[in-house]
Amino acid sequence: MPRAIDPDLQAADTVPDAATDGATDGATDGATDASDPALRPRNLDEYVGQERVVDNLRVYIRAAKQRGEAMDHVLLSGPPGLGKTSLAYIVAEELGVELRLTSGPVIEKRGDLAAILTSIQAREVLFIDEIHRISRAVEEVLYPAVEDFRVDVLLGQGPGAQSVSLPLPNFTLIGATTRAGLLSRPLRDRFPIQFGFDFYSPEELGRIVLRSAARIGIKIAPAAARELARRSRGTPRVANRLLRRVRDFAQVEGDGDIDLAIVRITLKRLDIDEEGLDSMDRRILHTVAVKFDGGPVGIDNLATAIGDEADNLEDVHEPFLIRRGMLQRTRQGRVITSRGRRHLGLPKAEGSLF
Ligand SMILES: Nc1ncnc2c1ncn2[C@@H]1O[C@H](COP(=O)(O)OP(=O)(O)OP(=O)(O)O)[C@@H](O)[C@H]1O
Ligand SMILES: [Mg+2]
Repeated sequence: MPRAIDPDLQAADTVPDAATDGATDGATDGATDASDPALRPRNLDEYVGQERVVDNLRVYIRAAKQRGEAMDHVLLSGPPGLGKTSLAYIVAEELGVELRLTSGPVIEKRGDLAAILTSIQAREVLFIDEIHRISRAVEEVLYPAVEDFRVDVLLGQGPGAQSVSLPLPNFTLIGATTRAGLLSRPLRDRFPIQFGFDFYSPEELGRIVLRSAARIGIKIAPAAARELARRSRGTPRVANRLLRRVRDFAQVEGDGDIDLAIVRITLKRLDIDEEGLDSMDRRILHTVAVKFDGGPVGIDNLATAIGDEADNLEDVHEPFLIRRGMLQRTRQGRVITSRGRRHLGLPKAEGSLF
């Protein structure tokens, strides 16, 4: 079992669904999902998609095990819900070692990280979620730890305090981030292995939906699974969340079985459209198109106009809209594309050839 260093983080995994349900019950509400632990893939064979990442990791894991050494440090980056945390757990599992869990924002002081580091055993995995949010001061403690496996600690207080360098056993740092761009260059360069996560194909998500349905014991028609997969924004967490909503509707408004009709009814009730966009996605597009005349508009302006956090727009919504070719990020700001306009049913921009 993984050991959690931060009790808050562990608790976050078991937040009841009701906490993220309600008014914003769309595809992208909240980041936690009560049944996630149950639905998490447990090993590389169960991990669907991301083939390049998985294939390479298999090699690195095997090589490290054969040598009896710690695996090199790994950085996992990509939008929320694509399986970074799941993969970190799997790597520790496959390496046959403990995973220590912490996250950027909870490591407040240098001493917090030093305490974590000095408790690590040889070849264990230290997983730092949201690693882009660690402070510069803490980052400085991390550098010698990941490079030379040592940590500098201060003994005593005041003018008599002495800095001593303690050796650490070799360990593997796995960092996860939704925003690789926010990582400092020196920190990024200290990860010999780096993987960027891509959105999943509808076919891959279909496999995930079928597996999740089997795990939680619900029957779902293949066409229903396909429809759900197609409208899950390329994101396994969204697919799993929608599956559970569909189950509720099937139970209360249908006969319990999940068919195409009940999927369509559920998605309509959740205001998720044909392409899987939720109301916030559409609001973003609409605001850029109408209020900002198609753009370019800076992210802070856009966030203020919409009344949401810039971080949420950048982390959750933008990558998907860009991937779908509905929004573009230019040096001057965000611009709606002709595809984005079409999706909203708006006429072409003036002077546009497309
Ligand atoms: N490759 C996969 N195969 C099967 N299920 C997956 C896969 N990736 C993710 N999932 C499912 O999606 C859920 C969310 O994944 P996970 O928590 O690992 O995402 P994440 O990238 O860490 O997100 P965040 O950036 O918000 O922390 C998992 O609990 C699991 O049920
Ligand atoms: Mg995660």
